[in-house]
Amino acid sequence: MTADDRLSTTAGKLADLRERYHEAVTASGEAAIAKQHAKGKKTARERIDALLDHGSFVELDEFVRHRTHAFGMDRKRPYGDSVVTGTGTIHGRQVAVYAQDFTIFGGSLGEVAGEKILKVMDLALKTGVPIIGILDSGGARIQEGVVALGKYGEIFRKNTAASGVIPQISIVCGPAAGGAVYSPALTDFVIMVDKTSQMFVTGPDVIKTVTGEDVGMEELGGALTHNKTSGVSHYLASDEDDALDFARTLLSYLPENNLAEPPVYANDVELEITDADRKLNTVIPDSPNQPYDVKDVIEHVVDDGSFLETQPLFAPNIVVGFARVEGRPIGIIANQPNAMAGTLNIDAGEKAARFVRFCDAFSLPILTLVDVPGYLPGTDQEWTGVIRRGAKLLYAYAEATVPLVTVITRKAYGGAYIVMGSKQLGADLNFAWPTAEIAVMGGQGAVNILYRTELKDAEAAGEDIAAVRTRLANEYTYNVASPFLAAERGELDGIIEPAATRVAVIKSLRALRTKRANLPPKKHGNIPL
Ligand code: HXC
Repeated sequence: MTADDRLSTTAGKLADLRERYHEAVTASGEAAIAKQHAKGKKTARERIDALLDHGSFVELDEFVRHRTHAFGMDRKRPYGDSVVTGTGTIHGRQVAVYAQDFTIFGGSLGEVAGEKILKVMDLALKTGVPIIGILDSGGARIQEGVVALGKYGEIFRKNTAASGVIPQISIVCGPAAGGAVYSPALTDFVIMVDKTSQMFVTGPDVIKTVTGEDVGMEELGGALTHNKTSGVSHYLASDEDDALDFARTLLSYLPENNLAEPPVYANDVELEITDADRKLNTVIPDSPNQPYDVKDVIEHVVDDGSFLETQPLFAPNIVVGFARVEGRPIGIIANQPNAMAGTLNIDAGEKAARFVRFCDAFSLPILTLVDVPGYLPGTDQEWTGVIRRGAKLLYAYAEATVPLVTVITRKAYGGAYIVMGSKQLGADLNFAWPTAEIAVMGGQGAVNILYRTELKDAEAAGEDIAAVRTRLANEYTYNVASPFLAAERGELDGIIEPAATRVAVIKSLRALRTKRANLPPKKHGNIPL
């Protein structure tokens, strides 16, 4: 076909389109794709294909090209630039997506790549659907300087505008360096792939120059580090398929936007107590110091196999995640007696606070399971801001207007009792098991203060001091910490057998489905950050 035919006939124009489209989707070149695969990484298009329902992807802006002349850039102007964007479905529900393409200019973000991302984010906001970003980039495009930096600024602003309006998920599948890390940080969930993704503000070389510290890329900002130590990431994926799969599963619990109803899956529930429910009657050990796994309790309360934990490796002393009750998604926050006896510390408080705020923003009721001996004592906690940072969880619960159901299984002491979804903070329905202990402090601590003289006298009289202490502590627990005292004052709505918990939660959530609550009008609050 001659050039003239192309311009003058319909067939020619169609052929031209097909050629250009082929050029756009093969812009990477085989060598760059082979290099990407050799690192155990998929290409941007492969990732989108694996994320979305088969055949649902509709690409946008595949003919966009950069306009840079500096550094000989005008000799290489691939269609689509360094990011693939578009829409599609996950489990049949609409989403918007972008995937940075490392095979084109290292996935770096210049003016037009930034514009593509902003455009698809705008579309997601306008249509009220989740946005999923797949990150794999060398950061701001060095050749484009301040223009590239400016686009990051616009993306951060858009991320912030979208926060609490549409769910935002970041899947980090390669490097995210420098200020570029702050886009994922502003999103609701960050998924990282073991060994192939790294996030850091300043890299190993800069650290070595400035502080003399020797640290490798993986140790500094690898997926394990951010899942276990920093709490930046919410899921440590074993490979890219696992990461994309987790994102698909996560979305099955979330509404499309803050005004939409969360998705409901058909699930008939038994409203009589079952044999499986009765297992909960033996979960709490007789000894108050013996731990148990709160995830066993969660599994017995929610729909079979529906619990999806997020941030499992960070602050394991508190468990957060999504589950379904009667096929409807809820958020769960539970102290974990199996880790640090379930004490609250800064990390646990911040992890839970952010989760409460996410659930509240997206209309997901919250079930809180309480077994907390108190706050972790120590100078480390006090000096790193347990007052300021611990207040976030109080603020988050106090501000939440979604249905709040709380079940105290065992210990609920001091400030930790109040913060963990107490009635006074705004919970709607509060229950306790008969094994609950609710007081200012635990029996042993209270005895040391209340019975100082008695203990001294007993010691002088040669009595077995440990036995006396235990007897007094048991008396205190029975007389002061009994859940019946809290129930007597209406601070609990009921004391239930553990076996009755599943049914009580189902009925409570049914009762609260029509809950209406409003906060006083204000520009925004001032959460302690
Ligand atoms: C332009 C870039 C680039 C960038 C990589 N490339 N990063 N081009 N701008 N920022 C190009 C490379 O030149 C190379 O092109 C191709 O992408 C692949 O890169 P390699 O280095 O070959 O890949 P690899 O060995 O895997 O190393 C990946 C990397 C490294 C660790 C990301 O490329 C790197 O250190 N890049 C620079 C990272 C950086 O400092 N970015 C700025 C961060 S600050 P060819 O043509 O050779 O294939 C920032 C500020 C954001 O982003 C501010 C927001 C407010």
